[in-house]
Amino acid sequence: MPENEKMKILWNENHRGYQPPVQKGYVEAYTAGAGVLKDDGVVKDDPTNLWPSADVLPGWKESIQKYEHETLNVGRRVAKLIARALGLDDDFFDLPQMFGDDNTTVCSLFHYTDQENGSSEEKLGRMGHCDVGLITLLATDDALGLQICRDKEAKPQSWEYVLPKKRAFTVFVGDMLERLSGDTFRSVLHKVVYFQERYCIGVFLLPSYDCIIESLLAPNSEENSSKYSPEKFRDFLDFRYADVTAETIQKQMKVA
Ligand SMILES: [Fe+2]
Repeated sequence: MPENEKMKILWNENHRGYQPPVQKGYVEAYTAGAGVLKDDGVVKDDPTNLWPSADVLPGWKESIQKYEHETLNVGRRVAKLIARALGLDDDFFDLPQMFGDDNTTVCSLFHYTDQENGSSEEKLGRMGHCDVGLITLLATDDALGLQICRDKEAKPQSWEYVLPKKRAFTVFVGDMLERLSGDTFRSVLHKVVYFQERYCIGVFLLPSYDCIIESLLAPNSEENSSKYSPEKFRDFLDFRYADVTAETIQKQMKVA
């Protein structure tokens, strides 16, 4: 897509749209919310989305929506297994504020590119982080680059590659699940090291903004080692995105 068209859909305050590679970043991304798939098969669009013009990318919006909803449904099936593992009803995560109609799931497409003039230390596609939602379903091309750290508290941290696998999702546990499960499930620290051009697409299962994120285990149970206070998902998200606002991206673009 031409640069000027990308700039028309630049990342907004709702964390939707195009994120250009900035400063030491070697990744550009595009994010769109899932909206709601109605019974008649029509998607009620997330009004905060920023779609490229259909003249520039015909069929893009429809393809992303279709992919996002089909993958979200896979995620809901995985969530049933998670619910069962936590001793909850199988359909617990189907509640409207979880991954029913009020969910705020997003799909992000990532393109890791070479900026040519970076030093080897700078060739880090994406800094180490944990995803924020319940789980992430990631599909990648054949390029190596994704790494995970099995013990995020270890010092020094030890990183290992996740080999790309055709026709399969890599599933990450996110911070939301870590908190809901009282740390029974641990979110996965991961990063991307840049070797070659790489594409991947992630669907991030996110609940409604008003969903309360708190441990679902009995407060005094042995499994519940949660040290966090209940928090609305919106606050949980805003804290995580504090450094990645539309304003900071535009500032970084001016500096780069
Ligand atoms: Fe991630």
